Amino acid sequence: MAEKKSWVLMVTAQTPTNIAVIKYWGKRDESLILPINDSISVTLDPSHLCTTTTVAVSPGFTHDRMWLNGKEISLSGGRYQNCLREIRSRASDVEDEKKGIKIAKKDWENLHLHIASYNNFPTAAGLASSAAGFACLVYSLAKLMNVKEDNSQLSAIARQGSGSACRSLYGGFVKWIMGKDDNGSDSIAVQLVDEKHWDELVILIAVVSSRQKETSSTSGMRETVETSPLVLHRAKEVVPKRVVEMEEAIKSRNFPAFARLTCSDSNQFHAVCLDTSPPIFYMNDTSHRIISCVEKWNRSEGTPQVAYTFDAGPNAVLIARNRKVAALLLQRLLFHFPPQSDADLNSYIVGDKSVLMDAGIQDLKDVEALPPPPEIKDNVPTQKFKGDVSYFICTRPGRGPVLLTEESQALLNPETGLPK
Ligand code: DP6
Repeated sequence: MAEKKSWVLMVTAQTPTNIAVIKYWGKRDESLILPINDSISVTLDPSHLCTTTTVAVSPGFTHDRMWLNGKEISLSGGRYQNCLREIRSRASDVEDEKKGIKIAKKDWENLHLHIASYNNFPTAAGLASSAAGFACLVYSLAKLMNVKEDNSQLSAIARQGSGSACRSLYGGFVKWIMGKDDNGSDSIAVQLVDEKHWDELVILIAVVSSRQKETSSTSGMRETVETSPLVLHRAKEVVPKRVVEMEEAIKSRNFPAFARLTCSDSNQFHAVCLDTSPPIFYMNDTSHRIISCVEKWNRSEGTPQVAYTFDAGPNAVLIARNRKVAALLLQRLLFHFPPQSDADLNSYIVGDKSVLMDAGIQDLKDVEALPPPPEIKDNVPTQKFKGDVSYFICTRPGRGPVLLTEESQALLNPETGLPK
């Protein structure tokens, strides 16, 4: 197998998360994770939201092990096992001349792996950590094992970890084609355009405070498929048309069409949740207030300035047509959802802080001095909801997975293969 007795070979990669603008909700095959409709997403800039994963192999490892955010977790679940099996079966010969390591294709079946993964955002915030996580696991293992498949073929493996993960194999705007085959080989992600195609877009995420434990996407969509009469109509009649229109809107950078489709699709996804028995509520009062604020503003401008979309939780993802609009949006959001009086503005707005500067906000006094948005009628009392948003993340469309080659960026110790 190897020339030297004891060695550790490792690879580190970084993978973004993504947010769907045409939603995936419902499976036709639970174990292969095959969806009932196509979906489209935008990849978020990994500088603000990403997963970093280091994978290592060594003849000294006794079993496969994984650490998530520093804590050891079990790899016995079916989704991990499916991804590991699929990627191992595609491994090739690997040679590292400098280290004097040679691994033959057949050796991979008997070698064990150590995996350490870290999210640069709180896992509990409900920001699609499984999408970035499984995409990064599959991508880094593919590089370690010299898998020859391209990212679309890798996406079909990541899909078996979590459906939405397949869309994190690319930057920019990505389509997950549902496919027809029973074995899932044609249920893959493809890039529609890269992150440079529509780089004026600014994305603001309102992480909404919530006390409620939400229904997981996996069980929520199962219950929807079993009980909602509306979801079939959505998958068969509505989404196929919307996907065509959305692709066109993205390619031609038609913001009004993009915003209309994004908001309608988010609202229909939440409508099928409500049509599930018992009904599933992902949005809360804060989510609804954010929708009203955006709808009112869009209407007063005569053409949409901002699109909103919500996944399986109350957090709002707001897409502004450009930086100027993003600054005006942030002013409105801070007017309605100011931080707690003792909060630090620096941790209330995270990510790309230049949007805060564009909005002319330097400290809490500037937030307090914000005037009510002009679209609010004088006779309606303006309400403020301090503390209902935990924090905001300012970001933009971003790139796909990359390898990190600096050893200092690895999460495992190169000598022991254990977490640093
Ligand atoms: C609402 O990919 O988390 O975010 O495939 O069961 O792991 P599993 O579900 P998951 O579902 C994501 C649902 C969604 C919409 C979307 O991302 O398209």
